[in-house]
Amino acid sequence: MYIEKSRFESIEHLEHNIHLIKVYSPSIARSAKPGQFCNIKVSDTDFPLLRRPFSICNVEGEHIFFMFDIHGEGTLLLATKKAGDELDILGPLGNGFDSNGDYQTAVIVAGGLGAAPFPFLTKRLPADKNIYSLVGGRSLHQVIKWGLKNIHVSTDDGSEGFKGTIVELFKTKIDELDGKKIRVFGCGPNPMLKALQELSIENNFDCQISVECAMACGFGICQGCPIENADGGGYSLVCKDGPVFDAKKVKL
Ligand SMILES: Cc1cc2nc3c(=O)[nH]c(=O)nc-3n(C[C@H](O)[C@H](O)[C@H](O)COP(=O)(O)OP(=O)(O)OC[C@H]3O[C@@H](n4cnc5c(N)ncnc54)[C@H](O)[C@@H]3O)c2cc1C
Ligand code: FES
Repeated sequence: MYIEKSRFESIEHLEHNIHLIKVYSPSIARSAKPGQFCNIKVSDTDFPLLRRPFSICNVEGEHIFFMFDIHGEGTLLLATKKAGDELDILGPLGNGFDSNGDYQTAVIVAGGLGAAPFPFLTKRLPADKNIYSLVGGRSLHQVIKWGLKNIHVSTDDGSEGFKGTIVELFKTKIDELDGKKIRVFGCGPNPMLKALQELSIENNFDCQISVECAMACGFGICQGCPIENADGGGYSLVCKDGPVFDAKKVKL
């Protein structure tokens, strides 16, 4: 883990008001794994604004990319940075996805901005794996395809692709995926992750989910990000033990 005084390089406005920022951060870029995140200090003062966690969306050489839309004050400040500004970044944090092992097809399931960690995962998947990306949003304006491959879309209102949730779309693909050894990688809002968790348990899928919650320190000190373990054996910390969990092992 590094605290790196990084250089803000550029901001690109992707479709649907999604921002993609590029940051020169060589130490973090060299050690980052897909599914990890960084805690970015978005303001120049320490108070009242805390750091904000963002998934590592992509890495190119010594540059890192982050994807976000404007939720509140933190993301608004991040969107106003200019080329050459210094950005204080803590990372890489968390465990990341485990993409090695015995499976043939990676099934990526992304809801809305839950697509953020997947361009990096897509790039770093072992070369012998096939990719199948299921990407959903409430409407076509929330469907984020940047950096993904072999994309199948769902929207709740039917404005693009399958009409229904991304997990309902997944259910329609189970026969197509039958016989292929799959590993599921999911990220998105909690109700989506819960539905994905249920589907995976029913079908005995090997499934890793990246969980979001409010965070403060980002590395296990403040105890501010507990998630209940499914076996009733206490809590894990999303920032340190996650954000990626075996879908069978946590209560959502
Ligand atoms: C491990 C991890 C990875 C993340 N990766 C990304 C990413 O790649 N891109 C991205 O845009 N966001 C990501 N987030 C969420 C991101 O941290 C929030 O968007 C950010 O904290 C909002 O800050 P803000 O100051 O703009 O909004 P705030 O003023 O803090 O909040 C505005 C609104 O957003 C809600 N909100 C704040 N934080 C979260 C959260 N963590 N989850 C759900 N709702 C929240 C608040 O309840 C409030 O209603 C991630 C969070 C975690 C824990
Ligand atoms: S955010 Fe502090 S322990 Fe997780």
